[in-house]
Amino acid sequence: MNIDLVRKQIPVTSRRAYFDNAGTGPPSIPVLNSINEFMADWREYGENWEEWLPLIIESRRQFGKMIGGVRLDEIASVPNVTSALIGLASSLNYKPEGNIVISELNFPTNIYLWHLQKKHGRAKDVRLLHRDNNGTVPLEQWEKAIDDDTSIVSVDYVSWTNGCREKIREITKIAHEHGAFVIADSFHALGVFPIDARQDGVDALVCGMYKWMQGPHGAAFVYTRRERLKDLDPNYIGWHGVQDSVARRLTSQQDLFGKPFNIEETIPAPDATMFEGGSWGVISIVGAKAALEFALKHDQTERSHRVLKVTEHLIEGLKKKGRKILTPLQSDRRSGIVVFEDPDPGSTYERLKKLNITVASRVKALRASPHYYNTEEEIDKLLAAL
Ligand SMILES: Cc1ncc(COP(=O)(O)O)c(C=O)c1O
Repeated sequence: MNIDLVRKQIPVTSRRAYFDNAGTGPPSIPVLNSINEFMADWREYGENWEEWLPLIIESRRQFGKMIGGVRLDEIASVPNVTSALIGLASSLNYKPEGNIVISELNFPTNIYLWHLQKKHGRAKDVRLLHRDNNGTVPLEQWEKAIDDDTSIVSVDYVSWTNGCREKIREITKIAHEHGAFVIADSFHALGVFPIDARQDGVDALVCGMYKWMQGPHGAAFVYTRRERLKDLDPNYIGWHGVQDSVARRLTSQQDLFGKPFNIEETIPAPDATMFEGGSWGVISIVGAKAALEFALKHDQTERSHRVLKVTEHLIEGLKKKGRKILTPLQSDRRSGIVVFEDPDPGSTYERLKKLNITVASRVKALRASPHYYNTEEEIDKLLAAL
């Protein structure tokens, strides 16, 4: 990877040391161009679904490539991670008197949703696992919590709150030994680490585009392992989620609106598109598609090495300054997120911003989330400013 060339494609790097990729990733020029092209098309033609639907299908395909080359029918395009998780939660089989196992390191959506299933009688117990003093949820805790009554295990690949990287394959193996369905949120992992959803074994994987993937808000994807599609039975559905949807009409060379929709019964799509409820945010999807194509140009392993190198540099510098680091430090738990204590995060954040350095302010802490395009020189600038 020629990092100077890459940085030229990411305009923010010319002005700012940007370390908030766990918040919102900055767009690359191809992403900006694709959105501008969509705007021009919209201005010129108004409705243009014949052109836009293929872009939606193509964005699914690119996402499939990004997670290890899964099949197109295993992918759905949805507006955000929350709606992806809601779609899954309202389609799954819940074991009678069963339980759901989650971690406190999950993003709140991936916790709230499950408490609600208990309230509505779909689970007897929600087992919320807590981190230890190292900031991790040890595998033994998962082993202890998951049993034959576990319906669902839902876990984040990387924690938004302290950057802990989960042992997804091991957790999935334990869950499958007990017949549980595994959902994994890869929002803080995709774009940083290479991901192979089939090798990881997860039953469903969700991911948004606006963080490490450097795409826009309003575009996310759900992967559902084809062997588990038959276990899903949606309680809620829209016109894009049924078998005879306009997107499927397009792919089978039919006129989009050439015949009436069957409103006598509801037949959900036999594939992951059952989660595609209403019309897509095309403007976001064209940006997401460009972001996926941009990321796919890079070797994902090389990206991860770069991220771990710059975060290591940051951690070493913070240690020298005597800063307390809240991120787990074991090498197999590390990610792009580094959280460290700060006596006054709000004002430090503002001060850094004036120096053209962007981090995120958190409770009694700052969160720095450098990406593959950041450099050690930029980290030195942050350390000096701190
Ligand atoms: C891990 C993780 N999942 C989900 C979300 C929320 O995603 P969305 O707003 O697309 O629902 C976030 C937001 O920060 C997150 O960090």
